Amino acid sequence: MKKAVYPGSFDPVTYGHLDIIRRASEIFDVLIVSVLNNKEKTPLFSVEERVKILKEATKDLPNVQVDSFSGLLINYAAQNDIHVAVRGLRAITDFEYELQMAQINSKLSNGELDTVFLTTSLEYAYLSSSSVKEIANFDGDISQCVPDFVEALVREKINLKRQA
Ligand code: PNS
Repeated sequence: MKKAVYPGSFDPVTYGHLDIIRRASEIFDVLIVSVLNNKEKTPLFSVEERVKILKEATKDLPNVQVDSFSGLLINYAAQNDIHVAVRGLRAITDFEYELQMAQINSKLSNGELDTVFLTTSLEYAYLSSSSVKEIANFDGDISQCVPDFVEALVREKINLKRQA
């Protein structure tokens, strides 16, 4: 059985991520989308919220599971008997960081964790979670970037932050 992990922050998940998830789910028998619990970042959504959002956004893809992890990806992969990580490449600017991460993961895992890159569809090449948050922070339109229910949750979260 071909199993892969698609790790990321997904804060929030965008149409670009969902495009990669759908295409990777057609390549692998099981795709585990796993949210990094990164204590060093202050995310908009908690890990639990991001997992819930991803579950909702991928509910029509039966071989996609959603999970979270802390620490090194290679350890999470080894614990779950996963040997492939999927990452999306939007542009040449992503390449250096992604190449470095893929090579570190390969080295640290003694070749047990390989990385497969999918190039982001052109229509989503400009998308990132950070730009979605920035646009929403300035009350801009993010309807072309994220599903409707995610847009509503982003707006709700930003309003709550403003009131705090
Ligand atoms: O969506 P992102 O923020 O670009 O995802 C980055 C992620 C989660 C894939 C990466 O930061 C990661 O795997 N972190 C876990 C820690 C780790 O294994 N680091 C070693 C590789 S540099």
